[in-house]
Amino acid sequence: MIILGINNMHDASAVLVIDGRVVAAAEEERFTRVKHTKGFPVNAMRFCLDYAGIKMNDVDIVCASWKPWALRVRTTLVLKSILKSPDIFKAKTSRGMGQMQNEWSELFRLRGLVEKYFGKGKYKIEYVDHHLAHAASAFLCSPFERAAILTVDGAGEADTTVLWTGEGTEIGKLDVVKLPHSLGQFYSAVTAFLGFKTQSDEYKVMGLASYGEPVYADYLSKNVIRLLPDGLFRIDPYFIDYHLARNGSFRPSTTDIFGEPRIKGEDIAKRYADIAASAQKVVEEAIFHLANYLHKMTKLDTLCLAGGVAFNCVANGKLFRKTPFKNIFIQPAAGDAGSALGAALFLEHKHTGRPRHYVMDNAYLGPSFSSSECERVLKDKNIRYERLDEDVLLQRTAHALAEGKLACWFQGRMEWGPRALGNRSFLADPRREEMKDIINLKIKQREQFRPFAPSVLEEKSSEYFDYSGTSPFMLYAFPVKPEKRSQILAVTHVDGTARPQTVNKETNPLYWKLIKEFEKLTGVPMLLNTSFNVQEPIVCTPGEAIESFIRTKVDYLVLNDLFIERPST
Ligand SMILES: [Fe+2]
Repeated sequence: MIILGINNMHDASAVLVIDGRVVAAAEEERFTRVKHTKGFPVNAMRFCLDYAGIKMNDVDIVCASWKPWALRVRTTLVLKSILKSPDIFKAKTSRGMGQMQNEWSELFRLRGLVEKYFGKGKYKIEYVDHHLAHAASAFLCSPFERAAILTVDGAGEADTTVLWTGEGTEIGKLDVVKLPHSLGQFYSAVTAFLGFKTQSDEYKVMGLASYGEPVYADYLSKNVIRLLPDGLFRIDPYFIDYHLARNGSFRPSTTDIFGEPRIKGEDIAKRYADIAASAQKVVEEAIFHLANYLHKMTKLDTLCLAGGVAFNCVANGKLFRKTPFKNIFIQPAAGDAGSALGAALFLEHKHTGRPRHYVMDNAYLGPSFSSSECERVLKDKNIRYERLDEDVLLQRTAHALAEGKLACWFQGRMEWGPRALGNRSFLADPRREEMKDIINLKIKQREQFRPFAPSVLEEKSSEYFDYSGTSPFMLYAFPVKPEKRSQILAVTHVDGTARPQTVNKETNPLYWKLIKEFEKLTGVPMLLNTSFNVQEPIVCTPGEAIESFIRTKVDYLVLNDLFIERPST
């Protein structure tokens, strides 16, 4: 059974599942070079087919992670919510619904589009409910036979939060919250209020929250996000409207409480950090409330999370303390890109009835390039390089990092999901506090309040962080043990937490060996790891890696076994 799953909305993506195993997966943005690309993911689909060496005619099912006809449900809900307010009506119809029309119409024309780009074939076209696709994306590739599942995002067809239970290959719905009550849209609206980009920069609000006091949280929890005794929640959509916020306009109800919105580029005043802290606090409380309700219903101690809100790694890390769940699984593309994965896995089991035999234990599902392909690009650009044996390559890179140099690290298959996990990464010494400023100066030019994350040897992780399990996809923030904080200043956030990636010897042996080499030199079994990109999607090809290296002031570039030192000027 060969299934090609796609998401053509925000964070368009394609995933190829063959006989229940994920063979290839990638976001369309890596090919178009436009962050969060929307629309028919022709490049990602082509990559998946090419990687497996198959043609579209070999595919049994092409499926999308949305049910387009369910749009009418959303329309009804939205109309209900806007009757009171003409300005919201205008914003929702011009920005929200209007912008989505293209993608929805693509779904109705899906067979035609597949045929246009890939030719006719025996493949069937199927559609999977968006939140079911999210739920399947987490549960069906988790290591759990049974689990509670929580999906929380901006909105699916009409659902915004769904509670599920999973057993074997079955997923059952337990409860649901629909538009306009959306935690994802609330957080995005606050993101816009703080002068950041919605559906993109929500993680900046999360980073900023640590610098503020949640002084507005009481007001918000009493008046805006009300936790109901039944375990769900209700949001006052008139307090801060998502679609208005995307247009940069806010209702008096918002500005009466928060004051004027931040203008993009404006300095971060304390008030803005307080707003971020308050929004983070009430959203966290809603997540814990939902998760506790879910635990009460399922009595399980295993939880799968998916949907854009599952990227809130601060909330994720606290789930271990605030709920009875002991084991949590979140696959690396937890947002809408991952819905393509869930749609494909769901249909695999629905149609074959086969039990599960695949666990996603690594994110290395994208394109890879041979050293000769890398070499060709270097020669074209007249860049000097050395080909090194693995031991020498690791030693030289680790030495450079330990001396405070920066390295671009490009190896093997590109990561699935928005985090660089050691195959498309900028690496640095986590011990040196000044590294934050150096990286911002030499590479990222990003906001000072945003934390950098560490990659740590899996077996050494619990020596540094207040958590004994694994975190292969960098999706949880944990407290750094107080006695270790001064050792890893560059990756410890202002609130004393870090967002580690635990690196496993089997799933990424080369990266593991590099960190081990760094440990031999410094006694610290981790590296600072930030994604290999500069105001663009993470690099995919050697050409993009080299371009990015040239644009920055990074000292070294490692492309597979090729070692490049920036010439001194
Ligand atoms: Fe979603």
